[in-house]
Amino acid sequence: MITAGIDLGSLSTKVLILEDDNILSTSILTTGEEGALVAKKAMDDAIKKANISFEELKNIVSTGYGRRLVPFAKQSKSEMLCHAKGSHWLFPKARTVIDVGAESSKVIRINENGVVEDFAGNDKCAAGTGVFLDTMAKALEVPLEEIGQLSLEYKEKVQISSMCAVFAESEVVSHVHKGIPRNDILAGIHESIADRIFGMVNRIGMQNDVVMTGGVAKNIGMVRALEEKLGTKIYIPEYPQMIGALGAALIARNSK
Ligand SMILES: Nc1ncnc2c1ncn2[C@@H]1O[C@H](COP(=O)(O)OP(=O)(O)OP(=O)(O)O)[C@@H](O)[C@H]1O
Ligand SMILES: [Mg+2]
Repeated sequence: MITAGIDLGSLSTKVLILEDDNILSTSILTTGEEGALVAKKAMDDAIKKANISFEELKNIVSTGYGRRLVPFAKQSKSEMLCHAKGSHWLFPKARTVIDVGAESSKVIRINENGVVEDFAGNDKCAAGTGVFLDTMAKALEVPLEEIGQLSLEYKEKVQISSMCAVFAESEVVSHVHKGIPRNDILAGIHESIADRIFGMVNRIGMQNDVVMTGGVAKNIGMVRALEEKLGTKIYIPEYPQMIGALGAALIARNSK
């Protein structure tokens, strides 16, 4: 059976097409302002790559912040359920799932069947999420893809004391003006985000194995900073940004 999951995130829209246990294709586009339009474009792209027709999709489930904007989805499910489902499918031993996206981060505890048992989330505040990193990369004039690695090559970690993203940004700019090396500033930025996420993990209690999903899991500096705080290894899927869409495609398959 062929199914699709679509994750309309605040920054990126992801589609994944699944046939039984094989991923046929994936597609990722920037969400922009027109959610319904980008959903269709991403779906068309994924269908083309999978070399199938839209009619061959037996079920489509949407998730993500804009999940209700997807006109062709037959059901919509919360991100929490989809990230839990996708993580459990890839890592059956996963008990703690950390999803860090552009504008939200969440920590989910799942049991041995992948069922959600507890949850802690952070919306509305940029300090523990991807947009904060995107803003900092711009402020420091470093490509986003490189900030993680650079953050690991520090000499003296800078303390970022502001709890709010807006103030933290001006704090970073003032460090730059003082001539503090970028690596040291980046190390401090990554640590401050790791602190936020650590707080959420502690709210629900960490259980191994820990899996990280969402685009920020592509940032090696963030993964290492979190591993250090948590004192445990974090498992990263090959395509961490696609896990919400994967979970949605799995739910689509199971609910058909
Ligand atoms: N190659 C990369 N290297 C480092 N970070 C990356 C990379 N690609 C994406 N990111 C980070 O991932 C974030 C986007 O993640 P994701 O696509 O999971 O968000 P989203 O699902 O749209 O947002 P949300 O779940 O909050 O609605 C970006 O803000 C960026 O910080
Ligand atoms: Mg997301």
